[in-house]
Amino acid sequence: MYKIKPLQDIKTEIAIPADKSISHRALMISALAKGKTTVKNYLESNDTLATLACMQKMGVKVKFDKKTKALTVDSCGLYFPRKTKIILNAAESGTTMRILSGLLCGQKFPINFDAKPALRKRPMRRIIDPLKQMGANISGVTKKDNIYPPLAIKPVKKLFGGNFSLKTASAQVKSALLLAGLYGKNATIVREPFQSRDHTERMLKLFHADIEMKDRLTIVNPGTKLVSPKDIFIPGDISSAAFFIVLGLILKNSQILLPKINVNRTRTGLLRILERMGANIEMQNRVNDYEPYADLIIKSSPLKGTVVDEEEIPLMIDEVPILCVAAAFASGRTVIFGVNELRVKETDRINSMVSNLKTAGVNIWAGPTKHKRGYDDYAIIIEGLNLFKAARFKSFGDHRTAMSMIVLGMASGLAHTIDDVKCIGKSFPGFISAVNKLYENR
Ligand code: S3P
Repeated sequence: MYKIKPLQDIKTEIAIPADKSISHRALMISALAKGKTTVKNYLESNDTLATLACMQKMGVKVKFDKKTKALTVDSCGLYFPRKTKIILNAAESGTTMRILSGLLCGQKFPINFDAKPALRKRPMRRIIDPLKQMGANISGVTKKDNIYPPLAIKPVKKLFGGNFSLKTASAQVKSALLLAGLYGKNATIVREPFQSRDHTERMLKLFHADIEMKDRLTIVNPGTKLVSPKDIFIPGDISSAAFFIVLGLILKNSQILLPKINVNRTRTGLLRILERMGANIEMQNRVNDYEPYADLIIKSSPLKGTVVDEEEIPLMIDEVPILCVAAAFASGRTVIFGVNELRVKETDRINSMVSNLKTAGVNIWAGPTKHKRGYDDYAIIIEGLNLFKAARFKSFGDHRTAMSMIVLGMASGLAHTIDDVKCIGKSFPGFISAVNKLYENR
């Protein structure tokens, strides 16, 4: 159990750990480009260490220096050294399992791809069906509504490539198909209903892959050798920064500086929504690298409610829980459309946020709605500026639910507890010590 204490009047700088999504991709794609690559500032979290362990088990030469956070990869190209059957474990990392599977379908050895119990409950049909259409031999455990880990992947002579129109915007599915596409006979084309994060596309481009991006359409052509850029720097994770961005806005008399945060447009949906709500967020020292990054300066701001449309969701999918917290501190009503995908994250995040916010006295509703395009999806409605109640929060084993509730707790002026904070190690192992420091440095 962790005790959450009230906080106000902070003026500080917080170092945000490296981006999780970019870290996974930097390692996976470096492992495909012959020669040496140094990944600077690789994220040391449970999920990214799971990807690292999988790569090492397949014989990819990769070393991680915990002190400098540098990862050195020495690759022999598209095909990993392993020759015989192997058991891999993605632990609790959905990104590891979904994205890496695309790459594994092109390898020359059989794989049993397992996971910890929490990930064994997450649906995999979304990658299995399209990868099979590309000619992959991949299967999982079929239960009544979906297919679940462990996955069995067997080598095939060649993948075909494919032409896909995804029903749901998912960077994980898109990335799995693009990476499988590197092993294809023909081009792989992926069209998304709405733009999702484009880190795989940017990383492939950085490595000289034959890839084209036009709006929501990506085409990858096989046959071009990947060339290492030698050094890659991973900027701070906006999804981790998000908790301190909202904290800085809703705490009284406060200012927080967050250096070197990734500000890729496909990840900054939350910033645009918060600005619409009245947030004072300044961006300084922007660097336009393969992924842009900048320093963010956050100042306490009175917020007002807003309407978030479904096409904004993929650009801030992991920030919906902390946006719910911001909405609870805003005047008026906030409506968030198109949040169906939240139901299949580490936990059902609609359920975890509704139940936690209700115990804190927040007026929140969530349920199915018909929206613009006429189909059923879920929406969340929050009436802000509630009188909060001291509460016992539950993480539901979900890192982002836990961090969101801690932020709400700190800014509410009351003392609360949360049952478990171990789950935060999935993406932001230093979060609790960063929070504890806020009280010491005042
Ligand atoms: C991720 C994509 C998102 C996100 C996840 C990381 C990625 O999932 O929720 O935390 O690194 O590609 P979906 O693409 O399935 O929405």
